[in-house]
Amino acid sequence: MLDPHVSDWLNLALRWLHLIVGIGWIGSSFYFIWLDSALAHPTTPNPEVEGELWMTHSGGFYLVERRRLGPGRMPAVLHWFKWEALFTWISGMLLLALIYYLTGGTYLLDSAVSRISVPQAIGLSLGALVVGWLVYDGLWSSPLARVAGGHLATAISWILLGLVVYGLCRTLAGRAAYYHVGALLGTLMVANVWVRILPAQQAMIDATAAGREADQTLSARAKRRSVHNSYMTFPVLLIMLSNHFPGMFGRPDNWLVLGLLIVIGAGLRHLMITEGKARWILAPVGAAAALAFVMTAPQTAAAPAVAAGDRVAFGDVRVVVATRCLSCHSAAPTDPTLTAPPLGVAFDRPEELVRWAQRIRERAAVLKTMPLANKTGMTEAERELLGRWVEQGAVLKD
Ligand code: HEC
Repeated sequence: MLDPHVSDWLNLALRWLHLIVGIGWIGSSFYFIWLDSALAHPTTPNPEVEGELWMTHSGGFYLVERRRLGPGRMPAVLHWFKWEALFTWISGMLLLALIYYLTGGTYLLDSAVSRISVPQAIGLSLGALVVGWLVYDGLWSSPLARVAGGHLATAISWILLGLVVYGLCRTLAGRAAYYHVGALLGTLMVANVWVRILPAQQAMIDATAAGREADQTLSARAKRRSVHNSYMTFPVLLIMLSNHFPGMFGRPDNWLVLGLLIVIGAGLRHLMITEGKARWILAPVGAAAALAFVMTAPQTAAAPAVAAGDRVAFGDVRVVVATRCLSCHSAAPTDPTLTAPPLGVAFDRPEELVRWAQRIRERAAVLKTMPLANKTGMTEAERELLGRWVEQGAVLKD
């Protein structure tokens, strides 16, 4: 295990890098999708110019042209956007290792979900990424991809993704499962760029430079992978934010919530790509959003019964918090992975327990995502006790 201070700084630096290169990658791909849709007919007809657009940005005026490159017409300098994708992936994988592989299973596993070991979970994590790509790429390189205009392969891809979501949510801790689905989609996107799109572009460049006509089927195939990538973008971005929402990943049916979120993200992207022409997509997207909203609502019906139980003495709450939470949630945590209380949440003073009461109930008694990985072995009776104390008004009285 890494020294927590070093690990904290690595974590910060990698997240920062991941965000910067990720914005560079996704930002430029959004820009090109938008540009393609905004190009107008050239003002002076030119057989080499397919479309043009005048733009202004930061005090400058720009004329962008989309050109057909005739054989032997290779420009001397040609910029490619390719490193952003690779560095997004590398920084993402390093983060995955730092947070999930080097923390002794704290974030990776949850004994309430499955009983696999840390090495098994790491094997599953890496295996999912490698096998996921091989299966996806194999499917879309096979003759199946041409059946029914690709609809069959699309349906198979959705079913496989559903199985991956379900399988990971049933083996890894909720948050880890969500991130692994994100990592898989991100890996498919980057591999699409480097293994399928860039080589096709290179072959076309080589043909053009050698004075041959470029093979347009290569362009069409690369285009398809790039369309896949654009559908994966929104779900991946959403998953990257999911760690702030334990109410979603911490549920027993978290796989269904994630499935709905992916449908919503891909649906909204469809609306964007089709420039608002496929408005029908709003119906399933709206239905998925409504379902996710309703199914994640707190179970208030059970609350009054809990509150009606015996009055909880604060002394008992204090003992539970001291044995189950303070190793992490203290100004001076004793847990070896921490140098400061997580998110600044410390329960050393009783007033802090009152301040955080609703979140304590939510995380320890309702979602049961605290203590993290139940590292301190909290019992059901203790969860119920904390929940009841909050229901009864979180008073500091014995
Ligand atoms: C092994 C360390 C560890 C233990 C033990 C632990 N926590 Fe946490 N807790 C964390 C970490 C890490 C975070 C930040 C990440 C997150 O929110 O999942 C956190 C965040 C929280 C938050 C703030 C986030 C929010 O949802 O509002 C609350 C409240 C919380 N824990 C309650 C508890 C309670 C109550 C206990 C004891 C029953 C407990 N924790 C035990 C590590 C721990």
